[in-house]
Amino acid sequence: MTPYIEDPWAWQESWDRQQEAYLPDREHRFAAMLDTVDAVIDGRAPRVLDLAGGTGTISLRTLDRFPTAQTTLVDLDPALLAIASASLADRATIITADLGTPEWHSALPHREYDAVLTATALHWLPADRIGQLYAEVRDVLRPGGVFVNADHMPDDTLPELTKRLMDRARDRRNARYAAGSMLSWSDWWERAGADPALAPLVARRHAIYPTGHSPEWNPPVSWHLAALTAAGFREVGTLWRGGPDAAVAAVR
Ligand SMILES: C[S@@+](CC[C@H](N)C(=O)[O-])C[C@H]1O[C@@H](n2cnc3c(N)ncnc32)[C@H](O)[C@@H]1O
Repeated sequence: MTPYIEDPWAWQESWDRQQEAYLPDREHRFAAMLDTVDAVIDGRAPRVLDLAGGTGTISLRTLDRFPTAQTTLVDLDPALLAIASASLADRATIITADLGTPEWHSALPHREYDAVLTATALHWLPADRIGQLYAEVRDVLRPGGVFVNADHMPDDTLPELTKRLMDRARDRRNARYAAGSMLSWSDWWERAGADPALAPLVARRHAIYPTGHSPEWNPPVSWHLAALTAAGFREVGTLWRGGPDAAVAAVR
């Protein structure tokens, strides 16, 4: 049963600020994703799958832009899903599933989506699993449908500059934490764990993700484009880039 969360929008806001500490241009990548959806639907209401959607960031923005969209959110984290559920109510189908296994798509309400969107998430999975997942994503898209994955994807032609960009971004992030303008990842989870409604779900989350963070394996864009091509997409490329992050797009 979904717990009663006093103000899910307060959690949405603090999640967004916490993520923006890592990704100051986070909204730009979402706008690029939604422009891509717009480009493939010919004015129809889109069916969008928000993969590893967490608190529902992409689903909420999809519904803001396309109010009649049918959105499905898949994730494994019970605390983030509870916030998503309280925010989206019956405007999206929310599914608990592990993207680490091929069974994740068995509970999807639709056979074919116009778009599958994911952000800052697939780096939680091992390399061989990402390659398999790309093929599974292709299978749930209609012909002409599009997949967009925005994540940490350094430019392998700029190794030295990328390192410098990441060092400067870390310094700015630490300055914000020191000034108290944003919560760090661990502080955000500590606050969620102290909330009476979320506490039991955060405890379950810690059992699901015992290390609390991703393995930090971040292959470059070229790796993702090769994996998407191998997965059978007919057109693959870089949709957006911001420093060491990028969004790759693939058309079925
Ligand atoms: C940093 S959050 C990003 C969430 C959201 N896309 C956003 O941009 O705010 C990473 C998400 O990946 C999810 N995730 C990681 N491994 C997963 C797995 N094996 N199956 C399903 N979701 C997973 C986490 O639960 C979390 O919600």
